[in-house]
Amino acid sequence: MEWGMKNRLAQLIKSDGRCLFLPIDHGYFQGPTRKLEKPGETIRPLLRYCDALFVTRGVVRSSIDPENTKPIILRVSGGTSVIGKDLSNEGITTSIEEAIRLNVSAIGISVFVGSDYEKESLLNLTKLVDEGEKYGIPVMAVTAVGKELEKRDARYLALSSRIAAELGARIVKTYWCENFEKVVNGCPVPVVMAGGPKVDTELEVFEFVHDGMEKGAIGVNLGRNIWQNDYPVAMIKALRAIIHGKGTVKEANDIFEQEKSKVRK
Ligand code: 5RP
Repeated sequence: MEWGMKNRLAQLIKSDGRCLFLPIDHGYFQGPTRKLEKPGETIRPLLRYCDALFVTRGVVRSSIDPENTKPIILRVSGGTSVIGKDLSNEGITTSIEEAIRLNVSAIGISVFVGSDYEKESLLNLTKLVDEGEKYGIPVMAVTAVGKELEKRDARYLALSSRIAAELGARIVKTYWCENFEKVVNGCPVPVVMAGGPKVDTELEVFEFVHDGMEKGAIGVNLGRNIWQNDYPVAMIKALRAIIHGKGTVKEANDIFEQEKSKVRK
């Protein structure tokens, strides 16, 4: 692997081989998502606890301080919205020159396996990989499910993740699911887990993240279950304990409760 590619991956994946990415890209198709109306304010207290931000160029420019930030994974696919016909009909929204100008550590794109636009989204990925590899910029593929959240099972996610890796993604972002080892074991590149819509309890998040890490994920790219929580700093610190501290679910929950009580005082 060439120096630039290796260096960028090392910015994202820490020396323990693990990572905590904080995605704030949801507005690119959802508009002003709850608690992300002002992304700069949402991330201010969280920045020091994450390893990288997943974000579009518009939010990088408008809301991220270039002198005080974390490595950037630039979301470069889009062109659809939640009220449009088909979320899977994405294109590449940002040139490789722009990614270089913004000094990003990686670029990220969604693929929609099994959708009407499966082929287009997979060919977008291959085009991006060709461009990224030319300049030593890794591509993170996002195995998107659009509105069909029920697709999040091991069979589907293993299929999507493997295809993304075969087409050249250096990292694959997918969802946690039952039998998650089938997803990780079938994917020859590192896998990170997204959170999906906010779940009811913090414990559920700690449980799936812990299970996914045990089964071979290298970390998370987890947004709403952190910044939509009433105690986002407590949440990210607890998750950091599982990911970088190899903590148990109970230890993470204890950290969450301790941090939460500090806020209440
Ligand atoms: C949204 C994304 C997000 O980066 C991804 O879904 C992770 O965020 P969350 O944990 O909120 O699901 O790709 O377009």
